[in-house]
Amino acid sequence: MSKVTIVEVGMRDGLQNEAINLSQKQRFEFGKRLAASGLIHIEAGSFVSPRWVPQMAGSDKLIRHLLQAQKKREISSKVKFSALVPNQRGFVEAVGAGVKTIAIFGAASETFSKKNINCSIDQSFERFKEIMPLAKMAKINVRGYISTVFGCPYEGRIKPSQALKTIQRFFDLGIYELSIGDTIGVATPLQVREILGPLKKMNKISKVAMHFHDTRGTALANIATSLEYGVTVFDSSLGGLGGCPYAPGAAGNVATEDVVYMLEGMGLKTGVDLDQLITTTAWMNKQLNRKLVSRLSQAGHSCIY
Ligand code: HMG
Ligand code: MG
Repeated sequence: MSKVTIVEVGMRDGLQNEAINLSQKQRFEFGKRLAASGLIHIEAGSFVSPRWVPQMAGSDKLIRHLLQAQKKREISSKVKFSALVPNQRGFVEAVGAGVKTIAIFGAASETFSKKNINCSIDQSFERFKEIMPLAKMAKINVRGYISTVFGCPYEGRIKPSQALKTIQRFFDLGIYELSIGDTIGVATPLQVREILGPLKKMNKISKVAMHFHDTRGTALANIATSLEYGVTVFDSSLGGLGGCPYAPGAAGNVATEDVVYMLEGMGLKTGVDLDQLITTTAWMNKQLNRKLVSRLSQAGHSCIY
């Protein structure tokens, strides 16, 4: 393995939990800056209820604007902007805005499923099963997210056997990739092994991405452990923005610049320009009127030896 893919989720996971709602102009500028730093996979928003997540309102307008900017070559045509979709309505709106990659999202714990998307795990799969044939017809790529794989804010520790059952249900849908979420940032390398070990035996690693929130400072260790199993796709957000409004106590995603620093320092290519990320984090600090938590932005420069 010499290359690793970063899926930048700052525009979605990052901004969905911020107290300040950024304007369309600020969200667009954020997307443009992320793309300019070499990130190719950028989750730009979500087509969920604005009553549930007001920060993501207007994702349709934002994505249209980003795609227009790509046509005008203001943003690289290599960049793939994706969006989160909870149901058929969200799917139709996302496709209408021009999105070519969507992500459906469910959970390994019943209570989180109910709190986050207002339905049981079984009901969530009914919704996904409605979306899959539509996506196939419209040639839309479908990614999956499974939350609370290692722990749930309402139910506590989730047994690997329980999480693996729902993981298998996601694969059965025919998604191209499943992002395995440590929603509240409780996992340690041991728990990561308990999930990735069986998935490796099932030959599923090439379809796995890891999504670590960094509440307890274990995200980079978990990424290093995931690499041992051959995982090559990691979700992260600029500056460590992020959290889920329906997961109390969850801190941000692992910071993109910290992930890129570690991976590049390990000889793995990400294609991302660290100094540009750090400059964007400084810009974001001003937009949000707070200091983001990434280690690298605090160090102030990339300084890879
Ligand atoms: P519901 O209330 O059960 O749905 O919500 P409903 O069908 O009864 O509709 C209720 C209202 O929502 C109606 O509007 C619908 O029109 C509207 P009202 O009449 O009340 O004004 N509605 C929609 N509006 C816009 N777009 C839609 C849509 N669907 C219905 N697609 C629903 C069900 C799923 C919509 C709701 O629970 C919801 O929006 N949840 C989203 C929660 C969310 O976005 N959470 C954060 C993302 S997940 C995450 O962060 C975890 C992740 O990062 C991985 C990890 O870290 O673990 C991915
Ligand atoms: Mg998340």
